[in-house]
Amino acid sequence: MTDAVLAAGVPVLGSDDAAWWRQAVVYQVYPRSFADSNGDGLGDIRGVTDKADYLAGLGVDAVWLSPFYPSALADGGYDVDDYRNVDPRLGTLDDFDDMVAALHERGIKVIVDIVPNHSSDRHEMFRAALAAGKGSPERDRYIFRDGLGENGERPPADWASIFGGPAWEPVGDGQWYFHHFATEQPDFNWDNPDVHAEFLHTLRFWSDRGVDGFRIDVAHGLSKDLPAVLPSQAELDAMDTTDGRHPLWDRDAVHEIYREWRRVFDEYDPPRIAVAEAWVATPERRAKYATPDGLGQAFNFDLLEADFDAAQFRHIVTDNLAQSAATGSSSTWVLSNHDVVRHATRYGLPPRRGSLAKQGSAWILAGAPADQIDLARGSRQALAASLFLLGLPGSAYLYQGEELGLHEVGDIKAEDRQDPAFFRGADPERDGLGRDGCRVPLPWTGTGSSFGFGAAGAHIPQPDWFAGYAVDVEDADPASSLNTYRRALALRHELQTGESLEWRETGRDDVLRFVRPNGWQVVTNFGTEPFALAEGEAPVLGELVDGAVPAETTVWLRG
Ligand code: GLC
Repeated sequence: MTDAVLAAGVPVLGSDDAAWWRQAVVYQVYPRSFADSNGDGLGDIRGVTDKADYLAGLGVDAVWLSPFYPSALADGGYDVDDYRNVDPRLGTLDDFDDMVAALHERGIKVIVDIVPNHSSDRHEMFRAALAAGKGSPERDRYIFRDGLGENGERPPADWASIFGGPAWEPVGDGQWYFHHFATEQPDFNWDNPDVHAEFLHTLRFWSDRGVDGFRIDVAHGLSKDLPAVLPSQAELDAMDTTDGRHPLWDRDAVHEIYREWRRVFDEYDPPRIAVAEAWVATPERRAKYATPDGLGQAFNFDLLEADFDAAQFRHIVTDNLAQSAATGSSSTWVLSNHDVVRHATRYGLPPRRGSLAKQGSAWILAGAPADQIDLARGSRQALAASLFLLGLPGSAYLYQGEELGLHEVGDIKAEDRQDPAFFRGADPERDGLGRDGCRVPLPWTGTGSSFGFGAAGAHIPQPDWFAGYAVDVEDADPASSLNTYRRALALRHELQTGESLEWRETGRDDVLRFVRPNGWQVVTNFGTEPFALAEGEAPVLGELVDGAVPAETTVWLRG
């Protein structure tokens, strides 16, 4: 197709409340590291409520909360003990209701994280499975297999978990259970109707409390088809992941689950929304998660995986707008989240792939490359990429702290780390340092205990340089990253228009320029030489130097 006009004809945001998600700016809160209201070192639900004005002032349309449920924190809360409660260390259901009310009063929607691929090993269903024994209906809710060898002393297969180490765990009676992630995260058996019922109950529980939508964790993993004789890891690795028939990933059958969920979402007015975390092989496979009778939207991580490079960015935008138009969904754009190295740091690293490790879906820092990071270049490119992203049609997902231009914390001591990806990875040089570096509690003030995060310090130590990125410090500087994000989000609201764009040729390979239906234009200079605009062109966001867009900078122009 020509990439001149993309995705034309799809609705404009705001014409219908049910379509609020289509071009929303969604801000991801990692609750334990956002704000600590009671001074126990862990961020909490009241912390979010206390910062409702900050979120409103930033101009976001929705907040997505990573898991806040009771959890032993074997995987930062993605090991859920009880899907319908709040971790007592983070508050109560009443606190949750207060937070929803505070955000709703300010016009901010609430999205919660649903983790349906696995529970924690402390979930009552898993405890019951262990207690009930082999062959029981309780065990059938998870994936148990007899071990090999005379007494089942060998694992049923040699599979590796995504965080490293084996994916099968013995339970002492000759049986083993399967876990894609940490040992404490047994995978559910989605062929079992009790599992379906559990999650329909959970979706209604949060929807009834006023939650507006759901982020679906590992959405491409739920459906599994394990033959009687299990393939080896090498055989699994060699199998096609694009035909919908892989035994473990992105099976076509998974969409039946989401059609069932859609019927629940549509019981509500406006319908509850969902966005799939689905790390699948192609944009075509991803689009299957974003259909109107399924989850409706799916994360597109292509920009997050790209270099700061004009050709890559253009290609990704063109492809994804075409895909989302084909399903009737809207595209999603992400540069940072709680699983990857913050984009300011990624862009500051020398040859990207050399200093990052890929672990499952996550790009994480390998080795200790702090001395190799060009912080200034990373910060400059990150802001340019963010402002490019915020001008695109579709939803923008921001990760807490990126509005501050925050960098990854690379030098966390092993004893202060929490991520199972770090501990299960055999070799930090190869397997990376894990994901704690983007989960360090936010700096709210330039001075004081844990930079204003909370009275008792931070559960992952903050470096001294966090002071320079603190909210109150950036607040006072009109040119700060925070104030630039605020201006961008306010303007985005004002300029928002139909979900399409048209590329304008710039005569330079390293400069992209696109125009939205109402004339709103975005110009990003990915290169190191200034890019001159036409006489009289004056940006509404970003500054020219001598009539030109400086190196590694984005500007917006009004139509
Ligand atoms: C998703 C989450 C990640 C978590 C994993 C297992 O990829 O984003 O943080 O570790 O699922 O639940």
